[in-house]
Amino acid sequence: MTLPALPPTAAFDGGCAFADGAFVPLSEAKVSLFDWGFTRSDATYDVASVWQGAFFRLDDHLSRFFTSLQRMRLVIPYSRDELRTILHGCVRGGGLKDSYVAMVCTRGVPPRGARDPRLAQNRFYAYAVPFVWIATREKQREGIDLHISQRQRIAPASVDPTVKNYHWIDLVQSMFDAYDRGRDTSCVVDADGHVAEGPGFNVFMVKDGTVQTAATGVLEGISRRTAIELCGHFGIPVKIAPVPVDAMRAADEVFLTSTGGGILPIARLDGVPLPHFPGPITQRLTEGYWAMHDEAAYRDEVDYGDAAR
Ligand SMILES: Cc1ncc(COP(=O)(O)O)c(C=O)c1O
Repeated sequence: MTLPALPPTAAFDGGCAFADGAFVPLSEAKVSLFDWGFTRSDATYDVASVWQGAFFRLDDHLSRFFTSLQRMRLVIPYSRDELRTILHGCVRGGGLKDSYVAMVCTRGVPPRGARDPRLAQNRFYAYAVPFVWIATREKQREGIDLHISQRQRIAPASVDPTVKNYHWIDLVQSMFDAYDRGRDTSCVVDADGHVAEGPGFNVFMVKDGTVQTAATGVLEGISRRTAIELCGHFGIPVKIAPVPVDAMRAADEVFLTSTGGGILPIARLDGVPLPHFPGPITQRLTEGYWAMHDEAAYRDEVDYGDAAR
């Protein structure tokens, strides 16, 4: 499939999408009512970020997306380089210096009356919108109160959590649990009652200088990987092991990791203040996270032409 020419910088207000093989304004990017991506959550996606004019760890996001496609038996008509070009085009078309950039592949629409997913033509979409934070800047300063929901994340044996997916009913319902209790956001547990992940983030705790996060049953977040690598870099011990809820409630520090904001400190667990907010290890990792954005190895500069905003 040939790619269209890249859109001019800031051709579209508020962001730019790529749908049905063309760069279009966000309002024109639509999914069919009959697409299994909508009716069955039969889709995979990935989200990368652009910060100060450059993608961060785009290669890692592309690798995860192609692995997810393969595991879901989905196919897109673009090579890795073409996909990279499309994502750059979306950011450029939106004229965005700090951006949330999504790539999505849905099963598509099988022929009328058919129920065989092999007959569906898979669909690819991408879009870039202004950077999305898991929590507002004010809320981050004031301190996020995390609710540990008793809801279980859908079983990994049912839906592979390492494939980024739209099976979010458990996560969304846990957000309602949190709001009903006056908390800011939530995380869910696994079948053994260990802390799993939250709506758009991985969860970490720090106890006696050791950082700990779930080993399995979660998305292997790119920001999670960054936090683990930074621990290695700073010589901070890391334990990749199940996180019991009681252990997290007794932690010195808790933080979240997400492309939507990097490393975010938690101030309270279900209303109970943690001993340190933001904790010294969380702060060190946060500084390291943003410093990595200046390293050439992780940057993929967006070409905005001469009309950069
Ligand atoms: C369920 C879930 N867990 C974890 C994450 C964090 O992954 P990443 O660091 O790659 O953004 C996300 C991101 O959206 C997510 O949806």
